[in-house]
Amino acid sequence: MTSSAAPMQAETLRGLLDAGAPITVLDIRTRSDRAEWWIPHSLHLDAYDALRQGDPEALTGLDIPVSPPVVAVCRAGVVAQAAARSLADRGFQAFYLEGGMKAWGQAWNRAEVPLANPGVSLIQVRRTGKGCLSYLIGSQGKAAVVDPAVDPGVYLRLAEERGWRITSLLDTHIHADHVSRSRELAQRTGARLFLPAQDRVRYPHRPLDDGDQVRVGDATITLLATPGHTPESACFRLEEDVLLTGDTLFLGGVGRPDLEATDEQAAGRARQLHASLERILALRGTTLILPGHTDRPVPFDGRMVGATLDVLRKDAEGLGRWFGGTHPSGPDAFAHWILGRVPPTPANHREIVRLNETGTTSVTPLEALEAGANRCAVS
Ligand SMILES: [Fe+2]
Repeated sequence: MTSSAAPMQAETLRGLLDAGAPITVLDIRTRSDRAEWWIPHSLHLDAYDALRQGDPEALTGLDIPVSPPVVAVCRAGVVAQAAARSLADRGFQAFYLEGGMKAWGQAWNRAEVPLANPGVSLIQVRRTGKGCLSYLIGSQGKAAVVDPAVDPGVYLRLAEERGWRITSLLDTHIHADHVSRSRELAQRTGARLFLPAQDRVRYPHRPLDDGDQVRVGDATITLLATPGHTPESACFRLEEDVLLTGDTLFLGGVGRPDLEATDEQAAGRARQLHASLERILALRGTTLILPGHTDRPVPFDGRMVGATLDVLRKDAEGLGRWFGGTHPSGPDAFAHWILGRVPPTPANHREIVRLNETGTTSVTPLEALEAGANRCAVS
């Protein structure tokens, strides 16, 4: 007997995980595909090849209770259908993730970041399907979004829930891994769009230089120029105690300086990055570092991805390696070390940069253009 299996959309699964609903997510991809990126809280059974070959024993190794419902996940949502049918035959209420991990790339969740100033709220919006972190800052009925990377409707709904009107949009740099949603949000809300000063972006925006400020209700956002990852890369300081570091500093690494650069330019940028990191390290140790990316899927746990500068300084695997005295420091040694460790160049980065510079709408669906793990970091 062959049972039918129902499709489940990524947004539905996202909502169920967000609500903590009882559901089993079963990833049937190969081990190497799984290692690249995965759905938080999912189980893994490497049954991809067996399922493709129609092996009736493909899921034999699976030992899970027949309840709750199971959602089978593959790369693009085809092989998972066979898995779901096989599960349905075994009595499960079985689904397959429509569009597979490609569709999941847009999935997101959130965490509230506690701040010292009760008049300012900060929500970390995490694109768990890709690792991009963006921020919604609200105060006195107004809001700013920093590095928006998920569907604009998500920020509009979150702002509406809190009674905020989005008045400002900011990007820390010209992104190479995702199409910035700032421009669409600006068009939909009439909000002002701020970018670090540069001469690459050809649509209307307000340039910000080092020390320039944007006010949102009671909140003050100050640009700190931190070139290196890209020439215009910046951090945004929120009040005195929070630093949104974009792709300059992550919790376990730093932003790669080599994209869209010749070898010579990349070496120059790496030295600039060293100076920028020293500038960040001069801030108070209690400063909360909130990065623009994470290198692994963010769980649906409501816990912020962030750490104080003091914690990062002591991290022997991260920042502490370069600035803690155990590794040769100085800009040249740093540049040499970092350029020897850059990960493979991310897919489609040229096309994504071009879209972010011109503001042109993509002819390729974003799901396909932005597919793949985030590779902005060197660690
Ligand atoms: Fe970046």
